[in-house]
Amino acid sequence: SSKNVVWSKTFNHVFFSVFAELQDAVEEVLPTLREQGISVFILSESCSIQGIDSLSNKISQASDQPLSRDLRANVNIRSTALYIYTSGTTGLPKAAVVTHERVWAASFIQAACGITAEDIFYINLPLYHSAGFLIGLSGAIERGMTVILKRKFSASQFWDDCRKHNVTVMQYIGETMRYLCNTAKKDNDKTHKVRVAIGNGIRTDVWSEFLSRFGDIKVRELYAATEGNIGFINYTSKIGAVGRVNFVHRFFFPYTLIKFDIEKEEPVRNAEGLCIEAARGETGLLVGKITRRSPFVGYAGNQQQTEKKRLRDVLKKGDLYFNTGDLLRFDHENFVYFQDRVGDTFRWKGENVATSEVADILTTAPCILEANVYGVKVEGHEGRIGMAAVTLKEGQDFDCEATYKQVTSYLPVYARPRFIRIQPCLEMTGTFKMKKVRLVEEGFNPAHVKDPLFFLDSEKKTYVPLTEEIYRAIISLEIKL
Ligand SMILES: *[C@@H]1O[C@H](CO)[C@@H](O)[C@H](O)[C@H]1NC(C)=O
Ligand SMILES: *[C@@H]1O[C@H](CO)[C@@H](O)[C@H](O)[C@H]1NC(C)=O
Repeated sequence: SSKNVVWSKTFNHVFFSVFAELQDAVEEVLPTLREQGISVFILSESCSIQGIDSLSNKISQASDQPLSRDLRANVNIRSTALYIYTSGTTGLPKAAVVTHERVWAASFIQAACGITAEDIFYINLPLYHSAGFLIGLSGAIERGMTVILKRKFSASQFWDDCRKHNVTVMQYIGETMRYLCNTAKKDNDKTHKVRVAIGNGIRTDVWSEFLSRFGDIKVRELYAATEGNIGFINYTSKIGAVGRVNFVHRFFFPYTLIKFDIEKEEPVRNAEGLCIEAARGETGLLVGKITRRSPFVGYAGNQQQTEKKRLRDVLKKGDLYFNTGDLLRFDHENFVYFQDRVGDTFRWKGENVATSEVADILTTAPCILEANVYGVKVEGHEGRIGMAAVTLKEGQDFDCEATYKQVTSYLPVYARPRFIRIQPCLEMTGTFKMKKVRLVEEGFNPAHVKDPLFFLDSEKKTYVPLTEEIYRAIISLEIKL
């Protein structure tokens, strides 16, 4: 069809229909590219622009015999295969170097999840990120399976696509599972052949709802960072867990959780300057030992960012670890739970607030569709106070009392979002992760923020519109936070 690309098993036919828009973008920088001696091809039969050559006609004329080994004589398993820009939830995107070894390892994830050549895999995530490209597409090539490639994720077309193409494996990331659960219920919700869902970032409440709504689908939640040197995968279908500590795995890819100071945003160190391992059940920063078997290649042309992800003197003087920037927890049965990204957790009144947990509670308020939670600075106060940007369900107004009730029933005082910002939509990265940096900077001053703002008034026991007057009273410390 005009929107989908179907990559058939035999790779004889590839149909793309996305190039009209990409062509314009390339045309803009074409002179610079040509100056640098870069040849530009476009995946179509012909191209009228000087300096851009068509590729499809050349592919169809090419031999299907294996290439001469000489062509890849200087390529080995540690060579750079591609660059993937990290999605940039808490900072600017950086180009992570992905080696052939990493592409190879990621392409076996499908096999590890029990996917076979007979399965039909539905990819609707961008191919410029690891999930869609490495796990999805490279994995499909490794399996030799059929892929249904959708140009863009659509919650309303999702299940119809699955039914139409007999999809058996789906992929999800970030908020996409919530979007599926938020669509209107239908009688045929369980009529489809999807048996496995592979992805990461599903919240516990959404996971349960997804299963009861769409049937017995094995959710293979996995944890990995594009540039990281450690990952976890499913192991069981235990709701909420991203995996289980496996001692063989840990022997080959040594990792640990270390105590982390949320306020200073750095690991806690003892008198000898070494990090301290987190106790079982305690949330800690995941670090993976950098070894030959689990290398950390870093970011292209960005030594400073690469160095920032390296952590030295962790358990012994002179050792070297990769700092995942992720806070996880191991429970007493060795299940692994993802807690938050460093920077997504903030500290208020001496307590750590995990933004994802607050967002889970907020979205149980009847009027709220989505919530993006973060901490903002208030003059005269240590730490950062909770704030949430939310979108409302269609046709609903912000219900001050119901939201107040939900927040105060389920969250401790320090974790309650004192400020709520109503937005028409939330700003997302290409992989449906919420962006926070700009919201944090914009803060809660009604003179600067044009969206409606609300304030949790603990005396009136409800949310009230945040007026300039209330704002001044907060800044001058007349209102106690
Ligand atoms: C899906 O499966 C049904 C029944 O097995 C079959 O009749 C149909 O042709 C399949 N559809 C596609 C697009 O392969
Ligand atoms: C994934 O979980 C299933 C059980 O639900 C298990 O049989 C399988 O071995 C697990 N895969 C991996 C790679 O752990």
